[in-house]
Amino acid sequence: MITTRTVENRVSFATQKFKEIFGSPSTFTASAPGRVNLIGEHTDYNDGYVFPVAIDKYLNIAARQRSDRYVTLHALDVKDSYEFSLSSLPSTEQAPAWSHYLLGVASLLQASGKRISGIDAVITGDVPIGAGLSSSAALSVSAALTFLTASSEDLSPESPPKPEIDNKELAALCQQVEHEFAGVNCGIMDQTISLLGREDQALFLDCRSLEHEHIPLNLKAHHIAICNTKVKRELAASEYNKRRAECERGVDILKQWLPGISALRDISLTDFKKYEDELPALTQKRCRYVIEENTRVLEAVSALKTRHSQTAEKTDESLIQFGRLMDVSHNGLRDDYEVSCTELDLLTDLARSIEGVIGSRMTGAGFGGCTVNIVHEDALETFRTLVTTEYYKQIGIEPEIYLCNVSDGAQVFWNSESSS
Ligand code: GLA
Repeated sequence: MITTRTVENRVSFATQKFKEIFGSPSTFTASAPGRVNLIGEHTDYNDGYVFPVAIDKYLNIAARQRSDRYVTLHALDVKDSYEFSLSSLPSTEQAPAWSHYLLGVASLLQASGKRISGIDAVITGDVPIGAGLSSSAALSVSAALTFLTASSEDLSPESPPKPEIDNKELAALCQQVEHEFAGVNCGIMDQTISLLGREDQALFLDCRSLEHEHIPLNLKAHHIAICNTKVKRELAASEYNKRRAECERGVDILKQWLPGISALRDISLTDFKKYEDELPALTQKRCRYVIEENTRVLEAVSALKTRHSQTAEKTDESLIQFGRLMDVSHNGLRDDYEVSCTELDLLTDLARSIEGVIGSRMTGAGFGGCTVNIVHEDALETFRTLVTTEYYKQIGIEPEIYLCNVSDGAQVFWNSESSS
């Protein structure tokens, strides 16, 4: 299994690379994590509920303010560099794909009336790219923090900048970057958890009001294991947008009988059952999945909460219930929402065949990417061996398995060398 770098290591790596490339120290490093969603998939853009955690994999940007309006970027992990002027932003056609997120952040911050400074920056991280763990949200969140920090008037470790923008606004801005600069009509989950994640706690988020609650996981002898299929379907973005459109279509049709609704979140299962036959077959399946998934998140959160106030015996029952809901969630994503794929299904089937695996499901948008599994510590070795061997046998690819430490959200770290 892959172990991850400590906070000091991850920040110092970016800092050291900055110094090597630019010849003098960076001022700070903005660091934002990827995420894994435990349950509540494809519910965020339906105004529903999600339950993600931030993982100990981060995108780090070591940076320094420039006195002019240029932005000089070195993206170490894709071995590419790019420079542009904030005074006349290039179009995305002219710029490499990875830089679109930074261009998007700069463009939207400027459009909101903020005067931002030029920067020198080195970008590096360990969130696997395109694996469904939100590497792009981690990039736009760290980019936004970088621009805001570099542009604050008093840049010193004694008075850390307080960005004149709150987390809700920041998450919405980064979501807009995905819509306008990456062509994905995503919801608000990934950006929010990247900003608000907390060590050992999951985030129960209402994606309509953005009200949230941090829930201690207290998994004790269990671990969150992430399995990366190492495949990504080309159609992922267009299929994602199609799913969103199908849900909106369902709401439009159902409004005839349920005039008060504005999203699938507003429909109870009982009401849905009354009117589901009015929907075209495909729309019906998509809507059913989302409505059931919203209910599952509420049940899963309540199972975890019960766990903390019960005896040891009861404790396990609640976790088993949580795992069962994860399994059912995967089945819905596979059969009704149709965003799973052979590789994800194989990984969940293999995981579920092992005693000590409490729950297993695909996580994120789907069409490749990762599964998330709750595994008892005594089953970890079997899990690793069986999943790796069988997946390789059937797919011809070695999957990656990460043991995930539930971690803190985005932060800015000062480089002490810069003030000495
Ligand atoms: C992607 C999107 C999120 C969410 C998930 C599916 O990660 O960015 O907004 O819709 O897919 O739950």
